[in-house]
Amino acid sequence: MGSTASDKLVIVMVGLPATGKTHIAKRICRFLSFFHDIPSQIFNVGDYRRQLCGAQLPASFYSSTNVDGVAQRKVACDAALADLMEYMRQDGVRVAALDATNSTKKRRMHIVSTLKKEKNNIKCIFIESICDDEAILRENIHKVKLSTPDYKGIEEKDAVDDFLARRANYDKNYEPVDDEDGVSYCKIVNSHKYIVHNIRGYLSLKIVHFVMNLHTLPRTFYFTRHGQSEYNLLGKIGGDSGLTPAGLEYARRLAHFAKEEIARPRRKDTKKRSNSHDFFNDSDDDDDDEKDDDKLVEDNEERPCRLWTSTMRRTQETAQFISHKKFNHTFDNGESFDWSQFRPKPRRNLDELYAGTCDGMTYKEIQDTYPDEFARRQADKLSYRYPRGESYMDVTLRLEPLAQEMERIREPLLIVGHQGILRILYAYFMGLDRKEAPYVSIPLNNVIELTPHAYGCHEKRYCLMMKEEMLVDGQDEPITSMPMAKRGLMAPGLYDVNGNGGGGGGGANSKNNGGGANNNNDNGDANKSNNGDA
Ligand code: ATP
Ligand code: F6P
Repeated sequence: MGSTASDKLVIVMVGLPATGKTHIAKRICRFLSFFHDIPSQIFNVGDYRRQLCGAQLPASFYSSTNVDGVAQRKVACDAALADLMEYMRQDGVRVAALDATNSTKKRRMHIVSTLKKEKNNIKCIFIESICDDEAILRENIHKVKLSTPDYKGIEEKDAVDDFLARRANYDKNYEPVDDEDGVSYCKIVNSHKYIVHNIRGYLSLKIVHFVMNLHTLPRTFYFTRHGQSEYNLLGKIGGDSGLTPAGLEYARRLAHFAKEEIARPRRKDTKKRSNSHDFFNDSDDDDDDEKDDDKLVEDNEERPCRLWTSTMRRTQETAQFISHKKFNHTFDNGESFDWSQFRPKPRRNLDELYAGTCDGMTYKEIQDTYPDEFARRQADKLSYRYPRGESYMDVTLRLEPLAQEMERIREPLLIVGHQGILRILYAYFMGLDRKEAPYVSIPLNNVIELTPHAYGCHEKRYCLMMKEEMLVDGQDEPITSMPMAKRGLMAPGLYDVNGNGGGGGGGANSKNNGGGANNNNDNGDANKSNNGDA
C-alpha cells in the first residue's frame, strides 16, 4: 500500500520527564499498527542521547546553563529527527513519534521547520502531557525511571534525587504549548483534563480520541472462553449450542472465581494469589491467608465490576451464575456486595468469528468438503475469510471500538467470550503482532488475567478445572501453530502448537498443562527496543 504525503503524520511528544510521554506514544503506535495496519515508529531522543553521550549523566547535564549539555542534547534530537525523516520517506509509512521533552518553543519550532523542509508536506501534532501530581510523579519515577540504564547500579535514593533534579532543570525553562505556536495540539493535564486545539483530519482526530481514552489507574481484565459447549464436544465450529454438563460446571466455578478473585479487592494482589497455584486446590495454609486479608482489610470494599458476554448462548450460559441472586454475597464485615454490577452485557462484536458456509462443520469435514479453502486458511490464517463468513482481520476491525472502550474503563472487566475474539484482544494488550494473534493459546477452562502496567501487561492464568474433570472434545484444529517463518519476537511457548480447542488447560508458556497450574507471564509493548526514557 503506497501512501500520499498528506497521509503522513509526525506526533511530537512534549512534557517534563516522567509525565508519561513514552507510555502514551507507545499506546498510540500500538493502536494504529494493530487495529489500523498503520506502520508507526517511535524515535526516542533519550536512546540517541545515551548512544552519543552515555547513559549516566548528572542532572546538571540537563540544565539550560550547561552550554555543552544543551549542544549535545540538540545533537541527539537532530539525530533522532534525521532518522525519523528517513523513516517517513519510506513508501507506506504514515506515522512516527518524536519522543523527547521538547520543552521549549525554540526546540519545537526547530522541529516544525525541519519537517517543513521536506518536500512531502508532513503533518505534525503535538501531544503534551502535564502532570503536577506529586504522588503520580513519584510513582512514575519508581515504577519506570529507576530501572533505566541511566540509573543502573545507583542507590535508589540517589537515583530519585538525581531524577528530580534533572526534572527541576527542565522545569526552569519549560514553555507549555499554546495557541501562539500556530500548531495543532492535544494537552493532557494530570491524565484527565484535555485541551484540544486545531486538530483536523481523520488520522489526527482518531489519535486524539484514542489518547482521551487512556488513563493510568490500575485495572485488570479477565478473559475466559465459554464453558465446553455441545458443539465443542462434537468437534464442530460455530453454531449457537448450549453448554455440556462440564461446561455448566465451569460456569459455576467461574462465578465462584468472579466472587473471590474479581469482586473482592482484598483477595487481589496478595502474594499468595500471585504464585502459581491451582485456584480450587490451594494447599497454602490458612494462616497466611488471614495475614494477607488483614493486610488488605482497608481495601475490602465493594467495587463495581463489568461483565461482557457475546450474544451467543454458550457465553451467556457461562455467565449465568455470576449474576444469579444466590451469589449475593455478604462480606465478613457485614457489608454486602451488589451482584447486579456483574449483570452480563451481551455484545455483538464479541460474537465468535463467523465461519460462513463452514459454520457447524468439523475441521475434518471442512478439509474433505473444501480442500482448497482449508489449504488457504492454513497458509494465511489472519487474512483468510470463510466463504460468506469472516476472517481474523474482519474480527479485528469490529473489535476496535471495544478495545478503545477497554482502554477507557477503570473497573475490573470480565469478558466471557470465544477463542478467536479473545486471541485478538489478548494479542493487542500483550503487544503481539496481529499476524501472531490467530495462533495464541486460549484454552477452555482457564481465566486469563491481564494487568496493564507502564509499557505492557502482566499476565496470570488460572485453571478452574482439574485435568480429570475435563472432557476431551474434538474441536482441535489440525495445525494451528504459527509457521516458524512467520514468528516474530514472541516466546515460542506462547503459541498454540497442538491446537487448543480442547478441554486441556494451558498457560501462556505451556503447551497443555492439563489443569491445576497457573502461569505468570509479562510482556512489554510493541516497541521492544525502546526503554521508555525519552
Ligand atoms: P522521560 O521524559 O524521562 O522519558 P516520560 O514522560 O516518557 O519520561 P514515561 O517513561 O512514559 O515518561 O513514564 C511512564 C509512567 O508514566 C508510567 O508509569 C505511566 O503509567 C505514567 N503515565 C502515563 N500517562 C501519564 C499521564 N498522562 N500523566 C502522568 N503519568 C502518566
Ligand atoms: O528524562 C529526560 C529525557 O528523557 C532524557 O533521557 C533525554 O535525554 C531527554 O529527556 C530528551 O529530551 P530533550 O531532548 O528535550 O532533552
